[in-house]
Amino acid sequence: MDLDAARRLLATHGQAHLLDFWPRLDEARRAALLADIAQIDLPLCDRLVASHVRRSEPAALPARIEPVEIWPATPDAARQDVYRRARELGEEAVRAGRVAAFMVAGGQGTRLGFDGPKGMFSVSPVRGATLFQLFAEGLARAGERWGRPIPWYIMTSDANHDDTVRYFSANRHFGLSEDDVRFFQQGMMPAFFPDGRIVLAEPHRVALSPDGHGGSLRALAASGALDDMRRRGVEVLSYFQVDNPLVQMVDPLFIGLHLLTGSEMSSKAVTKAHDLERVGNFCRADGKVAVIEYSDLPESLARARNADGGRRFDAGSLAIHVLSREFIERLTTPGSAVELPWHRAEKKVPTIDADGRPVSPDRPNAIKLEMFIFDAIPLARNPLVLYTRREEEFSPVKNAEGDDSPATARRDMIRRAARWLEAAGVAVPRGADGEPAAKVEVSPRLALDADDLRARLRKRPELRPGDAVVIE
Ligand code: UTP
Repeated sequence: MDLDAARRLLATHGQAHLLDFWPRLDEARRAALLADIAQIDLPLCDRLVASHVRRSEPAALPARIEPVEIWPATPDAARQDVYRRARELGEEAVRAGRVAAFMVAGGQGTRLGFDGPKGMFSVSPVRGATLFQLFAEGLARAGERWGRPIPWYIMTSDANHDDTVRYFSANRHFGLSEDDVRFFQQGMMPAFFPDGRIVLAEPHRVALSPDGHGGSLRALAASGALDDMRRRGVEVLSYFQVDNPLVQMVDPLFIGLHLLTGSEMSSKAVTKAHDLERVGNFCRADGKVAVIEYSDLPESLARARNADGGRRFDAGSLAIHVLSREFIERLTTPGSAVELPWHRAEKKVPTIDADGRPVSPDRPNAIKLEMFIFDAIPLARNPLVLYTRREEEFSPVKNAEGDDSPATARRDMIRRAARWLEAAGVAVPRGADGEPAAKVEVSPRLALDADDLRARLRKRPELRPGDAVVIE
């Protein structure tokens, strides 16, 4: 894009101010600014300014919100056979190369405040392995266990792509074949002032941020990743987020249930810790399976009880899904592409004043728009929701301290490793409070779950209180 084209385009869309500092910029900065402008979908921005920026009414709630059927974590007698068949089917699909792992890692990780891609955060309790390393080790073990390398698609964004790719190269992809690790970038969206003007972060930079994990669907299509999957014979994507070190990245039971029930998008849920827990809620919304955010679910429903005293809406979303490739193709086919809804958030976005000097707002000054992956669920045929156990599979690193922080993730990794070791016959010292008194870490390269560990543990370690031990 050259200056004239940019000027014309911006004027048409009421965003001419993005070039206000042009006369002061050197060549490199001018090029950077034009590159930022070229990334903006201005017709889309016009639409969203009218619908989401200038107006701020909350999205209308569905008229009917009802509980949805959730498959149990452990099958009752009637379902044992179905679960056994599902597990076999899932394993078969992995063995046949029909399953890929899909990790979204394009977020900015603002709450954690770590300087770098979140995947490079050192999280494991003894070795200090990073999130990326843990996932790579787990996928290497999964490939070995099922006799077939599992392709791994990693979504990054402009905010962290180069650092991520460099990190994997520097670590030789942690032993995975380079050909099986594919990176692609998601789209970016500008931030808006409440009057609809796009925010400049610097005189030569637009305030752009990733378009949300829901942007992964169009990014899969636009980047060619979907074509790559089709060429490789990948039919099913096992979706997870970079911040959850406990995730079972490739779960044959979950994949098998997805296939067996003809689901296009499946999700894992956990029993909520309390009525108002800050997780999305699985519901049937106007007849369709959907996730309603904790902030949108009316408190009376969040607190509602069944006749037996159980919580009426008890299934919290973990952001773990299985998606069929054909479903994503259907949603992203040019001409008939389905747009996921946009969510509006008021944020503090660093900007500049009329003289180009930096301004750090102390309260929200701008609006960011994002798409969420779970909004694809109501568009899917036969969506399936499966309960899993929180302590086995969910402990995200979101905040620097407190809940969902590195400290809670490390604690939960130690607790899980201790349980797996005990199931394998190892005596784990425990304190009076029942917590493990030794720091134990099971390398995902050795074992992916308790059964895997029991089968592969060569020697039972002697653990003493205060020990810090890696089982690998
Ligand atoms: P979060 O919603 O927790 O956002 O992302 P975040 O950007 O990581 O962190 P905060 O909110 O700035 O503190 C959940 C998952 O979705 C990915 C993240 O990388 C993480 O794996 N994500 C989020 C994307 O890939 N792209 C996005 O645009 C947003």
